[in-house]
Amino acid sequence: GRLWAVVPAAGRGARFGGDVPKQYLDVAGEPLLAHALRALLAHPKVNGAVVVLADGDERWPGWAEFEGKPLRTCIGGDARADSVLAGLAALPDEVRADDFVLVHDAARPNLSAADLDQLLERGRGDPVGAILAAPVRDTLKRSGDDGGIDRTEPRERLWRALTPQLFRRLQLSRALEAARDAGIEITDESMAMERQGHRPLLVEGAEDNFKVTTPADLARFEFVLARRGL
Ligand code: CTP
Ligand code: MG
Repeated sequence: GRLWAVVPAAGRGARFGGDVPKQYLDVAGEPLLAHALRALLAHPKVNGAVVVLADGDERWPGWAEFEGKPLRTCIGGDARADSVLAGLAALPDEVRADDFVLVHDAARPNLSAADLDQLLERGRGDPVGAILAAPVRDTLKRSGDDGGIDRTEPRERLWRALTPQLFRRLQLSRALEAARDAGIEITDESMAMERQGHRPLLVEGAEDNFKVTTPADLARFEFVLARRGL
């Protein structure tokens, strides 16, 4: 099989704070990013991963494989989209231009096998690809500049974009390059694809496939592991 993943792990974790970038925080005896990698590579259809590291990263353990599957590394950029672009360029040659590639945050450790399976099953049947997403649960307010509420926005058909996201290698590179050349900051891969006129499929995933952004999120993941007896 030629299905590979790109795992951007080149961020600085500014919102998390502290000295160690969050992807390297020790959780249950291994760095946080190992949990994200395992969730991907444990799937029988995923054949390997490119881990995108920050320039000068001295914490990467040097793993050449994980879960018995090959790992590659490359150096990322200042914006997440630059890191993903670097990761796509570092995929092995066997991954062809129109092959699907998964992109998954290194800081999103609680992806379930069932959600990844659904994304692959349904996304590979779509011409463009697909993303995991969760429905918005809270009531949404639009504020004015003064902090007063102007109105309530209907939350029907509003979703929170998660990862992994599944797109074709070349189409995704082209879309990310186009966003970069237009000077537009994209916050997920799908946004770059949407700008190109594509209409990715939305696959509903679990609420608890959260990204570790703040220390409270890390506590949530530790709670999940403790409940599993780890
Ligand atoms: N990421 C990356 N390259 C960047 C920025 C982010 O590879 N230039 C990665 C992060 O390492 C993380 C994922 O993209 O795995 C999601 O980004 P985010 O949660 O925003 O992580 P950080 O950018 O590190 O955190 P912050 O925005 O708080 O600084
Ligand atoms: Mg960030």
